[in-house]
Amino acid sequence: MDAEITVSELTADESPTVSRLCEQALDLPEDAVEATSIVDVLWSRAAADRVVVGLGAYRDGALVGALLCSLSATEPGTGHVDLIAVAPDQRRRGVGRALLRRAERVLAERGATEVLLAGNPPYYAWPGIDVRYTPAVCAALALGYRQDRTAWNMTADLSYDTSPALRSTEAAERRLADQGVTVRRAEPADLPALAAFARSTFGGAWDGELAGSVGRADAGCHLAERDGEVLGFAAYGSSRPSWFGPMGTAPAAEGSGIGGVLLRRCLRDQRAAGLDQAQIGWVGPVPFYSGSAGARIERVFFLYRRSLNAE
Ligand SMILES: CC(C)(COP(=O)(O)OP(=O)(O)OC[C@H]1O[C@@H](n2cnc3c(N)ncnc32)[C@H](O)[C@@H]1OP(=O)(O)O)[C@@H](O)C(=O)NCCC(=O)NCCS
Repeated sequence: MDAEITVSELTADESPTVSRLCEQALDLPEDAVEATSIVDVLWSRAAADRVVVGLGAYRDGALVGALLCSLSATEPGTGHVDLIAVAPDQRRRGVGRALLRRAERVLAERGATEVLLAGNPPYYAWPGIDVRYTPAVCAALALGYRQDRTAWNMTADLSYDTSPALRSTEAAERRLADQGVTVRRAEPADLPALAAFARSTFGGAWDGELAGSVGRADAGCHLAERDGEVLGFAAYGSSRPSWFGPMGTAPAAEGSGIGGVLLRRCLRDQRAAGLDQAQIGWVGPVPFYSGSAGARIERVFFLYRRSLNAE
């Protein structure tokens, strides 16, 4: 390790400093602009229900790099690196290497046998490393990580009135109403029913994403129901203000147009909040999003893992 660098655990009061570093160090503008919400979700909110550790790298007393890592709440023995960023003028001097190696030790001490450079849902900012962060891809390979999966986002264009993403939902909602289906914004009182629906229909726990969306600033959720029974939902903003998801429609209601209506209601909200594009995160059914909102595949991520037992 470079003798001039010291790495130590970050304290919660350093969160604004970490956000400022990320604003400069996340080279993609769409990430830099959301640096503060990314740090808040990955650190403050995630720490409510899992082990999260922040590491800072310092040179001459100044923060020059930061890393946030966490343990999976569902897969014992799996650690995640959720964020790594090194100040642009400090790169290729071993800071990233020192941070990653320390993260591996910290995670191992807490029971991890494997480390993933991949999102740890429901609190994640990226599914993995965006391929355009090419230095990070190089660093992952240099440090013994192997790519095991690929993931992608789709972009919905909200920048012009006639975008397919902003197509009216009125006629489809009238057709649904004729079949007794109501579509409306979800309220905090709906959370238990939504979480139960997600669990019983899809087997996964989306409680975190739902709680992070319903009734929160920069976020929201819409649902469809018949006779008080949830038939589908769509949420946005839980991981990042510009990100859409998750969503789900009951298999029995598929093909009725519910999904497209719920999706476009969320996208309409995101546009009203001032966004000119939304990211449909970690997709999923490409033809559905392409057909319902004209979304296109844009961000592509490589996911990496490294066993800590292989040394
Ligand atoms: C990825 C990042 C954290 C690496 O930090 P760093 O301090 O420059 O990394 P290190 O100096 O420790 O490099 C470790 C090794 O990675 C490889 N590497 C890093 N940057 C590289 C580059 N631009 N090209 C080729 N290899 C590279 C090298 O093998 C390097 O070892 P070497 O310098 O001895 O050859 C930094 O580039 C960064 O902050 N990028 C923007 C944020 C980002 O991409 N985060 C990940 C997505 S969340």
